[in-house]
Amino acid sequence: MVKLISHSADETEKIGEKIAKQLHGTEVIALFGGLGMGKTAFTRGLARALGVDDGVSSPTFALVNEYSGKYNIYHFDMYRVNSWDDLYSTGFFDYIDNGILVIEWSENIEGALPENAIRITIEKGESNDERIFEIEGVEI
Ligand SMILES: Nc1ncnc2c1ncn2[C@@H]1O[C@H](COP(=O)(O)OP(=O)(O)O)[C@@H](O)[C@H]1O
Ligand SMILES: [Mg+2]
Repeated sequence: MVKLISHSADETEKIGEKIAKQLHGTEVIALFGGLGMGKTAFTRGLARALGVDDGVSSPTFALVNEYSGKYNIYHFDMYRVNSWDDLYSTGFFDYIDNGILVIEWSENIEGALPENAIRITIEKGESNDERIFEIEGVEI
């Protein structure tokens, strides 16, 4: 497990970029952490490092946004997903192995995460803009 501290949204994007460099194209990245922790900012940096320059925003209403860069990226928001039926209807299982999945609110689909998922937990630090990242399942 690696622990990193971010002091700004910019630094959080850079953590996303750093992890993007370790990816091969079919990873599942499970993000844990509440509203405003920087899950979308992290995903923006990750996507940018894979050649996606804009359009990364919270897929709150769509449930999943797709971006195409060096790899296909499927960006999920599981906030409203409360059952296996809900999860099936997001297309989650069809996307697995066909691209990189980045999942906001992974708390809600914990039981469906593959064993080799990269797990990232974000918590608030001491100051307003501080975020503590705990990263498991990838070397950085
Ligand atoms: N260290 C930080 N990392 C990420 N976002 C931060 C940080 N400090 C402050 N922020 C602010 O917190 C918010 C994070 O938003 P967002 O990435 O949409 O979070 P989430 O997707 O987890 O709800 C933004 O308004 C951002 O400017
Ligand atoms: Mg978000």
